[in-house]
Amino acid sequence: MILSPSFLSCDFKNLKEEIISVKKARWLHFDVMDGLFVTNTTYNHEMVKTIKAFSEQFFDVHLMIETPEKYYNDYIEAGADLITFHYEAVQDIFGLIKNIKDKNVLVGISIKPDTDVRVLDKYLPDLDLILIMSVEPGKGGQKFIPESIDKIKYLAEKRRIFNYKYLIEVDGGINLETAKTVKDAGCDVIVVGSFIFNQENRNDLIGELENV
Ligand code: DX5
Ligand code: ZN
Repeated sequence: MILSPSFLSCDFKNLKEEIISVKKARWLHFDVMDGLFVTNTTYNHEMVKTIKAFSEQFFDVHLMIETPEKYYNDYIEAGADLITFHYEAVQDIFGLIKNIKDKNVLVGISIKPDTDVRVLDKYLPDLDLILIMSVEPGKGGQKFIPESIDKIKYLAEKRRIFNYKYLIEVDGGINLETAKTVKDAGCDVIVVGSFIFNQENRNDLIGELENV
């Protein structure tokens, strides 16, 4: 699987060193929170620009914000390679998918734990990635919600039947054990926050997570 470290729970006083400590991972996951869609606030597109200056990773931007249609372009201009917005935050989903694709970056949709995965059916042919939230969005360090497994299996089966091209990404509560479970269900990309940033020896852990 591809590993996308979420640096939400890193030591922000040593941001550059913290990001460099996970540079072996091909992707880097940005958790953008606006204090409206979720209660916490994190950072904005300036963070993408700052890290772009010293990272060559694939920038995986997860917008946990209201009206992402107003802000997505700031993140693209700052260096995002993939923009994932929340199904629950957008009215004109087809319109936003098209606008993001027109900028030549990849587009993903995320759903919260209580959202039925079947609401995504009509968008599946147009998406590059589906992000299944396996914890309630808003903070790191929570416990993986087991019902997420059925959503992954559903998306993997749909992709097999219709030959869709999207990647399936899972975010929240991932450790070596849950990584194995989501991989077996059909997951392609794991977002891992506290499990990596709470440990010292990150290089070995990255290898283990990718090859679980
Ligand atoms: C949750 C975020 C995550 C999450 C990952 O709102 O989207 O990316 O914090 O952190 P862990 O791995 O600690 O659950
Ligand atoms: Zn995330």
